[in-house]
Formats: sequence, structure tokens, C-alpha cells
Amino acid sequence: MKPMSKTTTVGFLGGTGIEGKGLALRLARVGVPVSIGSRSRERAREVSRELNSQLGRELIGAAENREMIGASEIVILTIPFEQAPAAIDAYRDCFRPATILVDATVPVKFLSGQVRLIELPEGSSSESLAKRLPPGIPLVAAFKTIPAHVLADLRAALECDVFVCSDSAAAKTKIMELIRLVPDLRPVDVGGLEAAGTLERMSALAIGINRRYRINSARFRVVGL
Ligand SMILES: NC(=O)c1ccc[n+]([C@@H]2O[C@H](COP(=O)([O-])OP(=O)(O)OC[C@H]3O[C@@H](n4cnc5c(N)ncnc54)[C@H](OP(=O)(O)O)[C@@H]3O)[C@@H](O)[C@H]2O)c1
Repeated sequence: MKPMSKTTTVGFLGGTGIEGKGLALRLARVGVPVSIGSRSRERAREVSRELNSQLGRELIGAAENREMIGASEIVILTIPFEQAPAAIDAYRDCFRPATILVDATVPVKFLSGQVRLIELPEGSSSESLAKRLPPGIPLVAAFKTIPAHVLADLRAALECDVFVCSDSAAAKTKIMELIRLVPDLRPVDVGGLEAAGTLERMSALAIGINRRYRINSARFRVVGL
């Protein structure tokens, strides 16, 4: 696996939503080559235009999801969790050998205004998706607790931790290096993929805090580390 560098290509599978757009902005701003993927090339182009105008520079590319996956060394999955398994199945032939899939999905639903975590038989959304990937494509769970609204506001300091877990040590190291490129984000290694369920619960907890306090910025930082 090639080490992380500022030439490592990062694509967003489902990058036209608020979480993908926010992460793309933050990575592009520090010089990472970023591409927005969408089922529609036109929608991807519209979003990349919008983000480039926010950045004041042409830093973010656009592609249909299949093309984006074929051109990316790191693919960040930012599709709603219900749609993610079918999307992985549909695109599994497009991955280049040793591409890393970064899973940001959180399996929650809203019932009577309350957030509820959906319990999955595999233990987490990440573990269920990892089983669907072609052999040799490692999955890293990350960004699950980073709120999209804060990412999208480039004036806002993120000042939080990104919890990262994977069963591939090499892939986890590379994604932690990617995260370190963003000055106010700190990667925290939380172990193997079995930790993903805890991260998904933490994300549900943050959504609940947001609702109770009428904010959209709740996030986590470990003290003493
Ligand atoms: N929002 C947050 O604060 C936050 C924080 C942490 C993690 N997350 C996670 O990040 C993910 C994205 O969240 P979001 O709020 O940005 O989601 P979203 O706006 O609802 O959807 C993101 C994109 O997914 C694509 N998509 C939808 N259905 C699809 C399908 N059947 N097949 C392929 N692509 C499909 C769409 O892109 P196209 O129509 O352009 O293809 C859509 O723009 C979720 O899994 C969420 O749990 C969100």
C-alpha cells in the first residue's frame, strides 16, 4: 500500500450530500485531490462548482460514481446507511486493487422526533459493509461522529477527534495520516472494526444532544490523550 501523500486521490461515493460536501471542502482546502461522486455526472458537476466557488479555487473534481471509484485510492462512503449495501454491491467491480473504503455511515432512524440506533446483526453498519467488499479492499470506519454542519462552515474550527477503526492496520494508518492533514482534526485509533458499533452509538448520542439543546455541532474530543 502506497503511503499517504498530498497526491493521494480521494473520492466521495455519494458526495453530493451534506456530509460528503463538508469533508470534501476540508480536504481540498489543505491540498488533497478530491472528487465528488454521484449517480448523476451533472449533479456531481453542480456540487463541485458550488464547492469550488466557496473555496475560491478549482480544487474539487466531479465524476459519476463508477468513474470516481476507478480513479480514487481512497473512497469515502457518504450514502445513507439504508442505501449503502446495495450501492456497494452495484459498484464492487469498480474498485482498483488496494483501494481503501472509508465508511462514514451511521444506522439511525427518527421515531417521534427521537433518534434511534438500528441494531444490525453484524454489530455495525461498517461490519455489514466490509463483508460485501471484494477481497483485498480494506474498510476503515471514520468520520462517523463529525457533524456535517460544522464541516460545511469553513469559518468554524472543527477542534475535535476523528475516531478511526479497521481490521487492516496499514489502511488505518493511511487514513489517520489523511486526517492529520486537516489542522484542527485529530485522528484517534480505537482498534479493530468491532469498535465501529460504539462509534455509531456515539454518533446517535451526538444527534440526540443536538436535538435536545437545539444545536447542530455536538462532537467529541478525548481529554488526557
Ligand atoms: N449529516 C451528518 O452530520 C453526518 C455525520 C456523520 C456521518 N453521517 C453519515 O454520512 C452519510 C451521508 O449523510 P448525508 O446527510 O450527507 O446523506 P444524504 O444527503 O441523505 O445522501 C448523500 C448522497 O447519497 C446519495 N444516495 C442516496 N441514495 C442513494 C442510492 N440508493 N445509491 C447511491 N447513492 C445514493 C445521493 O447522491 P446522488 O443522488 O448525487 O447520487 C445523496 O446526495 C450517512 O450515512 C450519514 O449517516 C452524516
